[in-house]
Amino acid sequence: MDIKGCIFDLDGVVVDTAKYHYLAWKKLGAELGFDFTEQDNERLKGVSRMRSLDILLEIGGLTISQEEKEAAATKKNEWYLEFIHQMQPDEILPGVLDFFNQLKENNIKIALGSASKNAVLILDILKIKDYFDVIVDGNSVSKAKPDPEVFTQGAEKMGLTAAECVVFEDAEAGVEAAKNGGMRCVGIGEQEVLSQADVVVSGFTEFNIENLKAL
Ligand code: BG6
Ligand code: MG
Repeated sequence: MDIKGCIFDLDGVVVDTAKYHYLAWKKLGAELGFDFTEQDNERLKGVSRMRSLDILLEIGGLTISQEEKEAAATKKNEWYLEFIHQMQPDEILPGVLDFFNQLKENNIKIALGSASKNAVLILDILKIKDYFDVIVDGNSVSKAKPDPEVFTQGAEKMGLTAAECVVFEDAEAGVEAAKNGGMRCVGIGEQEVLSQADVVVSGFTEFNIENLKAL
């Protein structure tokens, strides 16, 4: 089946915001009295803000009230936004814009499929919003990855079937979501983590329109 649309996760695929999420969660962990490691952070990739907080609290062995959770998540997001506002367009990951341009030249649609509620802000800061025909983010979905909702909505809004779309993901939960939605998936990262993807590459310098057509 010909590929007519590509759906991109944002954090860790288009831009390396994962490091800023990590720094903000680490700061929250420190304030709550425990260390949050980079290895722990792997568990938060692709996971919604509130679910991430639950995992963080589980790692710290803490139980807090719903009200305290809301306050903690807000605080984490404020710290995260401080990092985001300092981001520069050169933080777009290598090869991404070149690949977007190849898709445009081949009339392949581009969608965003992100769990982040900050997605549009990030696209604005990076000045790349205009590349996207469709944006589905953490504000428009009710079910988190590995549920395929974010990607099925993306395909529907592009007017395409799942079989006509390819998803690009760096998180295990995201690859699962793509497969649960019946879509082909390119994993961006490590083979061991993303083994369910149809192909895994380290980044877009290793992937071009010919590789896409061969999927
Ligand atoms: C995902 C990230 O894209 O978005 C997660 O991989 C993050 O780490 C999630 O928790 C939600 O992001 P935000 O910006 O709404 O807090
Ligand atoms: Mg991601």
